[in-house]
Amino acid sequence: MIAGLRLVLVLLGLRGLLAAPEEEETRQVSMQFNPGYASSSVNLLHTRAVGNGSTIHYVWSTIGAPTVLLIYTDTEHSDLRVNWSKLLSGDHYGAIAIEPASSVLYSTALTFTRIFEYKDVNNTANFSGTAEKNFYPPYDLSNFVWENANNTINSSSLSFRLTGANANDPNGSFSNGSVSFRVSAYDRPGRDSSSPRLLHTANCTKLEFMIEGVRPRGNHSRFALEMITLEKKSGRKKVRSVRSIDDEYTPTIFEVMELVPDALNSSYALGYFQWKSVAYGSINGSRADALPCVVYDPQNMNQTMTAPRIIQAFYGERLSDHYNVEALNVSFGIADGDFYEKNKFLAWSALVGYGTPPRDSFSILVICIMAVALGTPLVLLIIGAIVVTCLKKKVFSTYQPIN
Ligand SMILES: *[C@@H]1O[C@H](CO)[C@@H](O)[C@H](O)[C@H]1NC(C)=O
Ligand SMILES: *[C@@H]1O[C@H](CO)[C@@H](O)[C@H](O)[C@H]1NC(C)=O
Ligand SMILES: *[C@@H]1O[C@H](CO)[C@@H](O)[C@H](O)[C@H]1NC(C)=O
Ligand SMILES: *[C@@H]1O[C@H](CO)[C@@H](O)[C@H](O)[C@H]1NC(C)=O
Repeated sequence: MIAGLRLVLVLLGLRGLLAAPEEEETRQVSMQFNPGYASSSVNLLHTRAVGNGSTIHYVWSTIGAPTVLLIYTDTEHSDLRVNWSKLLSGDHYGAIAIEPASSVLYSTALTFTRIFEYKDVNNTANFSGTAEKNFYPPYDLSNFVWENANNTINSSSLSFRLTGANANDPNGSFSNGSVSFRVSAYDRPGRDSSSPRLLHTANCTKLEFMIEGVRPRGNHSRFALEMITLEKKSGRKKVRSVRSIDDEYTPTIFEVMELVPDALNSSYALGYFQWKSVAYGSINGSRADALPCVVYDPQNMNQTMTAPRIIQAFYGERLSDHYNVEALNVSFGIADGDFYEKNKFLAWSALVGYGTPPRDSFSILVICIMAVALGTPLVLLIIGAIVVTCLKKKVFSTYQPIN
């Protein structure tokens, strides 16, 4: 008993030690709506997260399909320049820039392109195996009409919301519904109070994708979301699964997924997109309404698509010479689970950020269970593994400039 207690104390101490470096990092976050443009006919929100000798810029926009640019600079004094007449004209290449350009060490982008709706006749939630005839025409998010996001900015919670509806809505599906992206920036590490209780740092931003009140086009509807991302030619993006220990924050959800550049020899930090494999079919995010989600491998799109407008505006005309553009799907739902029509609601959260993705350390509950259930040698072995992983992580996250 005494030995068990001592072990708990040792483990708790170790957990505190390992978590300490990240917990100290804070950033000063500010938000600007349409910087340098007096109209609110379009949405472009600039979030600046300054601190630790660097600035992370996020540019969110619904000009074209909803897009976020993430730009990391190694100075606290970089700024965003938008040439509005250029951006809103046909010749928008280069209309978005960071000054000084030489301070940009890393950038990436994520665009949400289409929402798929399909009829899950047999309740198998097999999105990739669904016959063509069971798909409704996809919702193309670049054809949506977006509300003025300026009214949604909350400078105390550092959040805003991009809400849109299909411009061409012959079935009236959107007469009482919308698709939205709720964005929350963070100035310090912490954990969300709402499901799925994501752990975050000051180096990331959360987006919550929501379908609310949209009338399904038939019975047994399920949804999937398609997105586009890009990475320098030398490194494609890959999806990796990080098994998390089932903890008290999201019971039964064991998996954290990450979309990261597949550049293992990289000595500088990179961007990431991270989520727990769960969406929710009700607004209160209860366990009963959890909808496991499935991610499909990224597909190279270099030959097959034109890049979204905001991406072209930042990366310029010769984007495909230097970057791989890739697309991927995430589908929501599980066999024998409830359909969307139950609550006409779907919400999925993810983090977009720079550096080392947040990692759950062992929760106190798990540590106690381990200490009680396992013998000391095994626990020591596990500690050894964690220490090694953390040391590795440290080595990888000492960044150096890209040439
Ligand atoms: C914006 O772009 C236009 C068209 O390329 C150019 O003529 C103008 O000088 C630019 N404005 C600024 C402030 O750079
Ligand atoms: C519109 O949506 C709200 C909230 O989702 C719901 O309470 C209301 O009954 C809906 N109205 C109609 C006409 O469907
Ligand atoms: C959906 O199901 C209801 C009840 O089972 C049925 O009355 C209705 O016709 C169905 N609608 C469609 C579009 O199949
Ligand atoms: C996403 O799924 C849809 C529907 O099956 C498919 O048409 C599309 O090509 C997929 N996109 C990617 C990038 O795999």
